[in-house]
Amino acid sequence: MAAKLMHAVQYESYGGGPSGLKHVEIPIPTLKKGEVLVKLEAASLNPSDFKIQKGLARPLFPRKLPHTPGTDVAGEIVEVGQDVQKFKVGDKVVALLPYGDGGGLAEYAAVSETSTVLRPPEVSAAEGSGLPMAGLTALQALTEAAGIKLDGTGQHKNILITGASGGVGLYAVQLAKLGNTHVTATCGTRNIELVKSLGTDEVLDYNTPDGAALKSPSDRKYDFVIHSASSAIPWSIFEPNLSKRRLVIDLTPGASSLFTFVLKKITFSKKKMVPLMINAKAENLDCLVKLVKEGKLKTVIDSKHPLSKAEDAWAKRLNSQCTGKIIVEP
Ligand SMILES: NC(=O)c1ccc[n+]([C@@H]2O[C@H](COP(=O)([O-])OP(=O)(O)OC[C@H]3O[C@@H](n4cnc5c(N)ncnc54)[C@H](OP(=O)(O)O)[C@@H]3O)[C@@H](O)[C@H]2O)c1
Repeated sequence: MAAKLMHAVQYESYGGGPSGLKHVEIPIPTLKKGEVLVKLEAASLNPSDFKIQKGLARPLFPRKLPHTPGTDVAGEIVEVGQDVQKFKVGDKVVALLPYGDGGGLAEYAAVSETSTVLRPPEVSAAEGSGLPMAGLTALQALTEAAGIKLDGTGQHKNILITGASGGVGLYAVQLAKLGNTHVTATCGTRNIELVKSLGTDEVLDYNTPDGAALKSPSDRKYDFVIHSASSAIPWSIFEPNLSKRRLVIDLTPGASSLFTFVLKKITFSKKKMVPLMINAKAENLDCLVKLVKEGKLKTVIDSKHPLSKAEDAWAKRLNSQCTGKIIVEP
């Protein structure tokens, strides 16, 4: 019997930006053991989607071409595979698809139950789809790397979040403020009011001399820096702003920051820089969904685009003029 087809957006080769995306009809995925089939209601885009299209993750990702991009999805379960324990048909969910496989820019996706969590009615599909990559990275950086407790207990910490108006940064400032923290954030001029409105104690415009120097307006030294700005900042800028035994957590480590990481480690320096790679855990995704449900965390949505116009969403995200998550809806 012929497989049922679905609409999807794919690219066949590296590069090409939005014009490299093609609208195709491909078979609805068949389920492997432990997977559920999700009828997608929303997918959000991340910088990794563009980096993979550019070929920056070659030869690891994508696993094969043509590739259906998109890892962060929300929708409804319409079929349950063998050995699935936690879910049933009709459950609304949020899920993170594997980097190398993607599959988010489509009408349906097969998702492992271990990367999927339930989504209560209070959390819309668009809000939920913003959470996986950006929210999990922000949560991991704050709670695991910086040791911030989201119930407000724990020692007081001064935190700097660079790139606070980005996908990761917008979640990071809100999560950091749930802890016992003073939060300083950097962003561009047009996003200052938004970043302040999320509870940030002090906001620096990275276009000003003090902002570029990361200088705290209240003369604080930072205990932890979550470096989520997409552009690199040299160690010589971070170093004078750090308190004595402190840490810069770099989400986009390049050659220079990896060199600093090794140098600080072998010299037993008290001020350190560490690279962070997302280690996605369903329990953390569940925690984020619950925080959104309780009104303690929100997804800032830049714009929503139909799947039939996915190239518009891609172009908007690529030209860096967006603030918050770009959502694609089948
Ligand atoms: N390690 C991991 O596992 C992991 C996971 C997720 C993301 N990431 C990486 O983390 C970075 C951030 O991700 P994202 O989703 O937040 O990206 P994003 O939405 O593109 O945000 C990047 C932000 O950086 C800001 N920015 C650029 N230059 C800056 C500067 N000099 N000072 C302060 N802010 C600056 C931009 O602000 P303007 O728009 O105002 O210029 C933008 O808001 C990306 O490089 C991404 O690939 C890594």
